Amino acid sequence: MPPENDARSLNGNTFDLIRLAPDHVPELVALERACFATPWSAAALIGSIARPISVAIGLADKNGKLVAYLIGRREDEHGDIDTLAVDPSKRRSGCATRLLQKALDVFADRGIVMCWLEVRESNVGAITLYKHFGFEIAGRRRNYYPRPQREDALVMSLNLNTEPGHQSG
Ligand SMILES: CC(C)(COP(=O)(O)OP(=O)(O)OC[C@H]1O[C@@H](n2cnc3c(N)ncnc32)[C@H](O)[C@@H]1OP(=O)(O)O)[C@@H](O)C(=O)NCCC(=O)NCCS
Repeated sequence: MPPENDARSLNGNTFDLIRLAPDHVPELVALERACFATPWSAAALIGSIARPISVAIGLADKNGKLVAYLIGRREDEHGDIDTLAVDPSKRRSGCATRLLQKALDVFADRGIVMCWLEVRESNVGAITLYKHFGFEIAGRRRNYYPRPQREDALVMSLNLNTEPGHQSG
């Protein structure tokens, strides 16, 4: 169900921005397995999409195939990005940038002032992406990730009142 009928070309690929629904769960499970060492289960995905506070969005190709997704949530005064992933074959074409910008816009529209997320400290690509949006490292959670080997999470935050928008380069 495309909420805004928003199809844009990203490096020659045209993807529709969609709201995630239970029908997407099998594709989400496949992408989670392709993208994460500790993938979310189908039950966890269904629960997270169904929450009224969720921001659950994706990008679909011209055949309706899900190529990227973001699941976040709105709490009282802050937002969290819970998961963000892009099909390995569609990376570095702006998919994550587009989804993250959309989620931050939704948060800002709802009056949310701070956005938080956790990221593996070895995940240089994701950290670079978040820093481009103005996220800053706010802390560390020791051994937050148990697999494939224990690893710390960096806690990153963005003040949406001062968010400059995505800075390229
Ligand atoms: C991290 C991830 C979501 C990025 O998705 P993406 O669609 O490729 O990101 P974008 O194309 O929007 O990248 C925007 C910018 O972020 C940075 N970036 C993204 N991936 C990068 C990488 N692997 N290495 C270095 N910088 C990277 C670059 O600056 C990039 O701009 P550029 O391509 O013009 O150089 C994707 O690699 C992914 O799904 N990884 C596995 C799951 C994951 O780690 N999720 C994040 C969990 S916190």
